[in-house]
Amino acid sequence: MALINENFLKLSGAYLFSEVAKRATAYKEAYPDKKVISLSIGDVTRPLAPAVTEAMHKAVEEMAHAETMRGYAPDAGYPFLIEAIIRNDFNARGIEADRDEIFISDGAKSDTGNIGDIFGCENKVAVTDPVYPVYVDTNAMAGRAGEYLAAAGAWEHITYIPCTMENGFVPALPAAEVDIVYLCYPNNPTGTTLTKEQLKVWVDYALANKVVILFDAAYEAFITEEDVPHSIYEIEGAKKIAIEFRSFSKTAGFTGVRCGYTVVPKELMAFDKKGNRYSLNQLWQRRQATKFNGTAYIIQRAAEAVYSKAGKKQIKGTIDYYMENAAVIKKNLEHTGMAVYGGVNAPYIWAKIPEGYTSWEFFDKLLNETQIVTTPGVGFGKSGEGYIRFTAFGSKENTLEAMERIKSLKL
Ligand code: MLT
Repeated sequence: MALINENFLKLSGAYLFSEVAKRATAYKEAYPDKKVISLSIGDVTRPLAPAVTEAMHKAVEEMAHAETMRGYAPDAGYPFLIEAIIRNDFNARGIEADRDEIFISDGAKSDTGNIGDIFGCENKVAVTDPVYPVYVDTNAMAGRAGEYLAAAGAWEHITYIPCTMENGFVPALPAAEVDIVYLCYPNNPTGTTLTKEQLKVWVDYALANKVVILFDAAYEAFITEEDVPHSIYEIEGAKKIAIEFRSFSKTAGFTGVRCGYTVVPKELMAFDKKGNRYSLNQLWQRRQATKFNGTAYIIQRAAEAVYSKAGKKQIKGTIDYYMENAAVIKKNLEHTGMAVYGGVNAPYIWAKIPEGYTSWEFFDKLLNETQIVTTPGVGFGKSGEGYIRFTAFGSKENTLEAMERIKSLKL
């Protein structure tokens, strides 16, 4: 008799964005004549950069000929892409990285979800709250989260670090002893950032306590302000304690193409129960070689083109386009009287909703009265209750139209 992984039974019925999509679809079916605008999931709407599609066409052509076709890609990625990443994302910021510290994948969602494979089930995990649900749900699937305590809106063995307007969205070091901490900066969902000084507090804490930081930098390309670190490795000592996740999804519009990478420094160690030290780089290498057959050649050529001169210019144009949307959303939401955060170094805008509504109620109100789909803050965790998230990834026209509709909203 095959037994299931019973941890799956403890998860909430649907993944956050599936629930949002379900409600939006039900509304569209009930009111087919209404134009619904989605500013919910962070999915891109601008086309791929011409430099990227040119590289893809060229790679497709190579695949059509016996002399130039490629079979399995190297598990950790082609050297041409790894070298472009090291030069542009790290060396350009004064960070050294070796080729075998970079692992190309099909995106940060997979890697942040899969990384748990190399950590023991006994580890105590901390997350900022609100948080990208993948971190929590994947730990729950692995049995690391314990039971879901519905009344508390929290998992038994997860340490939650509230990030709210009251503490300026700056996570305090956990009072409880933890082993692994997920940090995402610029932050999804709040759009807020940490300064180098604030991130250094975390790196020093991790160094002193043998904690591993899982640092999700998927949104670093949207940083506009100085003093906001693009990589945790800008902080001294971080290579001893942090794994960093990067994504081409938001940077270069690859949500439908799928490519990202993870940096696992060779100096990063973790321990067995006897206290012996092991290289996490080697464990991740082993995990990827066993469970992953590499990102497609065509896609890795596309990602390489992100770093070409033309690619960089075109991609910057797209990021500026989204950040103009972010400024429009921020300004218009502020006019409604709501307190608004993010949108300056990140494509997400996090708004405090008026008293008297839960975030799902406010989500429904926006959908019913303005036909705008958002993401309710509580979907990202208990501390997200009372907030709502907008993304800047819509088209300019839809964003402007949505903001016109928001003006008529009775709060
Ligand atoms: C989001 O909207 O939070 C993201 O698009 C989700 C993701 O990147 O998987």
